[in-house]
Amino acid sequence: MDEAGPEGAGLISDSVDGRLSVEEWNRLRQMRFPKRRSEWLSGRLAAKKLIAMCVPGMENVPFAKITIANSATGAPYARTADKILPIQLSISHREGWAAASVSLNTGIGQGIDLEWVEDHPLSFYEDFFTTDEVRTLKNYAAEQRAWAGSLMWSAKEAVLKALGQGLSVDTRAVEVLHIAENPMDGWGNVELRVANFNEERWFGFWRNQGQHVLTLAVRGAKTRPEIKQAG
Ligand SMILES: CC(C)(COP(=O)(O)OP(=O)(O)OC[C@H]1O[C@@H](n2cnc3c(N)ncnc32)[C@H](O)[C@@H]1OP(=O)(O)O)[C@@H](O)C(=O)NCCC(=O)NCCS
Repeated sequence: MDEAGPEGAGLISDSVDGRLSVEEWNRLRQMRFPKRRSEWLSGRLAAKKLIAMCVPGMENVPFAKITIANSATGAPYARTADKILPIQLSISHREGWAAASVSLNTGIGQGIDLEWVEDHPLSFYEDFFTTDEVRTLKNYAAEQRAWAGSLMWSAKEAVLKALGQGLSVDTRAVEVLHIAENPMDGWGNVELRVANFNEERWFGFWRNQGQHVLTLAVRGAKTRPEIKQAG
């Protein structure tokens, strides 16, 4: 994870040159809104730090030689001057923080999502959640409902990113069946059902990070994947 905040905003100066490729630098210059620039930038830096730490052969490659670009659907990928890295990358940014996740096995898809824990009116949940999810949510004590609702929403977005599809898919096609509140190494499990992708095994994870909740959805793994956390 990488914090945008005042530090991230401050990075949007000449000092950032060494960390962005020319293409990224040009893209950053076209962004008008400071918040978007700051979060976009910290997403790039979080992804590059992660790549340097996890991807074999990338530990000594200067950040400016790596471009984090987006496919036509918006899904991020990483490349150097001569190749697209054989990894699957995901990025999320929210309220001054960014998170990135990487799978070194492209047969295993994953998506990460960072949400700010906040409550929404019941009508929001009724529009975007399944009937069972709304029922589950109502069973939470009032003070836990914002957390559970934000986590469920985040898990849906993480799945949609793992599918490479984003919000073009009906959020009710992804159902959170159960949130296990017994984190192991800081990560709790989320049980997921994904319509039309039921033949795949899905693993969901969550963790609290200050006022944020972070979720990770993994598809295509035969057994529970091992999560290695960096930073
Ligand atoms: C992908 C999506 C779920 C992102 O969720 P979000 O909570 O708004 O934003 P997050 O910060 O968590 O994620 C943004 C990142 O998701 C990634 N992303 C975008 N589209 C993606 C896709 N189709 N698949 C996987 N990842 C995607 C990008 O890396 C993006 O960050 P970047 O632009 O800095 O590279 C959502 O924005 C979306 O569906 N976008 C595409 C469709 C769209 O724009 N619809 C209009 C709004 S309804």
